[in-house]
Amino acid sequence: MHVALALEAHSLTKDFGTVRAVDGIDLSIEEGQIFGLLGPNGSGKSTFMRMMLGLVKPTSGKIFVMGMDPQQDPVGVRKAVGYVPEAPRLYDFLTAREYLDFVAEMYGVGQEEKVERIESFLAAFELAGREDEMLSGYSQGMRQKVAIIGALLHKPKILVLDEPLNGLDPRSAKIVKDLLNKLTEEGVTTIFSTHVLEIAQAICDRIAIMYRGTVLHSGTFEELKATSGMPGSNLEEVFLKITGTDDVRGIVEELAK
Ligand SMILES: Nc1ncnc2c1ncn2[C@@H]1O[C@H](COP(=O)(O)OP(=O)(O)OP(=O)(O)O)[C@@H](O)[C@H]1O
Ligand SMILES: [Mg+2]
Repeated sequence: MHVALALEAHSLTKDFGTVRAVDGIDLSIEEGQIFGLLGPNGSGKSTFMRMMLGLVKPTSGKIFVMGMDPQQDPVGVRKAVGYVPEAPRLYDFLTAREYLDFVAEMYGVGQEEKVERIESFLAAFELAGREDEMLSGYSQGMRQKVAIIGALLHKPKILVLDEPLNGLDPRSAKIVKDLLNKLTEEGVTTIFSTHVLEIAQAICDRIAIMYRGTVLHSGTFEELKATSGMPGSNLEEVFLKITGTDDVRGIVEELAK
């Protein structure tokens, strides 16, 4: 059976000066999955995601999003993808409704659909009644919700979410998780990054563990547990073992002295 790929990376590498942020990644992500990029700070997750959008140009190697090269066809990729960056910048001098209107227009969403989708997302995210306030007065979590709504308005086939649950309270995080599951049923692929193990385990079908710009392991959690030689152990142990950072206990003890 031919499986359609949402994302393909071949020997993908990005250098910033002397820093190799992404180091020869080979990865395929099938359509219709929730795929987690899990890795410690500075492991290259955001850089990898920005290459998916064509915002960062690879130093070498290839990346394809639904068969498109983001450098060759940035518009095609942006139509197919909804992206929430790690620290979304919204327009402070707009209200939430004005901002979402603007985003929808930019993506060419029809008038009727635009109004309907904005209303229903605002309600789902419990922002109804606050939409005519300026974004400058929004809390961090509220802004994050608006950024997520903005990424969904044009019905993207792929969602690229850089730490989407950042700043969200447990109830809001649950709303996002349920929404991602519902979108998966509709065939949407979600690629998201986190360094919180529990979140990845709760949401993802598959994950890639990133470390220093490389993918150490990718697959289902069961596969990860098996390959790490620790079946049955909890994911935190697996993660610390795989990323070789299980010696942090000593550092913590030093710091706590
Ligand atoms: N624009 C840039 N200029 C210079 N170096 C960069 C740039 N973007 C990323 N880097 C470097 O690339 C490496 C990977 O960074 P990246 O932001 O991709 O990591 P990350 O996995 O998203 O980390 P975090 O979990 O902290 O968000 C880091 O060493 C970082 O300093
Ligand atoms: Mg990041």
